[in-house]
Amino acid sequence: MATLLQCTPLHHSISLIPILNLSLLLSSSFLLLLAISLPSTIRFSEGTSFLHSEILKDEAVARLNELGKVSDAQEFLARTFQSPASVRAGNLIRLWMEDAGLQTWVDQMGNVHGRYEGLNPSEKALLIGSHLDTVIDAGIFDGALGIVTALSALKVLNISGMLGKLRRPVEVIAFSDEEGVRFQSTFLGSAAIAGVLPVSTLHVHDKSGVTVQGALRENSIEITEENLLQLKYDPESVWGYVEVHIEQGPVLETVGLPLGLVKGIAGQTRLRVTVKGSQGHAGTVPMTMRQDPMAAAAELIVLLESLCKQPEDYLSYDGQCTASTVQSLAGSLVCTVGEISTWPSASNVIPGQVTFTVDVRAMDDLGREAIIYELSNRMYRICDKRSVLCLIERKHDANAVVCNPGLSSQLKSATYAALKRISGEDLDDVPILMSGAGHDAMAMSHLTKVAMLFVRCRGGVSHSPAEHVSDNDVWAAGMALLAFLETLA
Ligand code: GLV
Ligand code: MN
Ligand code: MN
Repeated sequence: MATLLQCTPLHHSISLIPILNLSLLLSSSFLLLLAISLPSTIRFSEGTSFLHSEILKDEAVARLNELGKVSDAQEFLARTFQSPASVRAGNLIRLWMEDAGLQTWVDQMGNVHGRYEGLNPSEKALLIGSHLDTVIDAGIFDGALGIVTALSALKVLNISGMLGKLRRPVEVIAFSDEEGVRFQSTFLGSAAIAGVLPVSTLHVHDKSGVTVQGALRENSIEITEENLLQLKYDPESVWGYVEVHIEQGPVLETVGLPLGLVKGIAGQTRLRVTVKGSQGHAGTVPMTMRQDPMAAAAELIVLLESLCKQPEDYLSYDGQCTASTVQSLAGSLVCTVGEISTWPSASNVIPGQVTFTVDVRAMDDLGREAIIYELSNRMYRICDKRSVLCLIERKHDANAVVCNPGLSSQLKSATYAALKRISGEDLDDVPILMSGAGHDAMAMSHLTKVAMLFVRCRGGVSHSPAEHVSDNDVWAAGMALLAFLETLA
């Protein structure tokens, strides 16, 4: 019988790292589709090479494929923060930035910047970005799509002589880390620019004991705590942030449209759970005398699954918990154990230690806190019962983010115009979605207003080599961004 939980966030018995102070709350349901009366599909007109398809489609797709080959592994795509491949990817992106007519530099967190000052260099700048790092065994679109489409659209403006007519500076940033694979602390690049990366992050270390600072130093980038604080952009110098990203879900494919606007992004928490037991001989320790951290970890992981499948069984409506919190959780909560390691990891040894990650996401921040609280308490109880030691460390937190309505509306109008030009058809509206995936826009929302454009994803599959965006949809995204940029001229 589940203990009922009050939705009051408590943190005792969890070690905390500083938390990004995102303050916006979302209560909308997960992947909410607001648009009505959409056409069932959209066709791309033939013979539309005048719509810059050679740059926005052919070259953009070729670049995505080229970037997708820049990997630290031979058999699959993997680029983590400051790895050799991520440095090569940054160099390639820098060349493409120069090809688009931008001034480039790499900052002390490894972010690659390309900027055009426009007619009024002292005006507030539009920032466009996404990340150049990937997960392990990644697809080629996650992150890269946003960088490549931005550079393609700016290249078109440059070739057509419009770049020099922009009324405000435009800067593309290829962020060095969004996935958090190497250091478990996501948004290293964008959080530094937004000024919300705690300086202590420089001393966080990866599995091999290399710190963030050390990883940068290996690539001849010296960063100190003072330099990190200086990376923060002055909010007064920034007008807004726009990010194009593969949807990573099935909604746009379901409605038959290539593009959609993002209304908000789910909040997330990452934990690292360490279970310590008694290492021993697989053949000699009787079952009744074991303190087996592997079996304990299995029970903890199954607990996580049940709690996240049926959160309503664990929540009460008193305290700060409202019916809408519970309803939002029921529709949006997702929890994952994606990484597990054991020591010493041999088939004839009862392990001494098991460590695994927990990723919890929800649209409702209070509800997510309540889940973390309940999960932690129950995990500690299971560990006590099994006489193993548990340590639950909180590695990352980002509250849910609401995209800026004004900026989103401008991006939406541009998207609408682009889709109309591409298809030659009238559309009723552009769909609006919620994002379950995290994005650099979450960190950037601390600095400025943000808007995001999602691009249709085949089968909703992402974080997998099967991830796919059609060539025409890459083109549509470039057209939408181009139409948006044209409004700045
Ligand atoms: C980034 O892709 C994330 O949502 O984990
Ligand atoms: Mn990703
Ligand atoms: Mn991404």
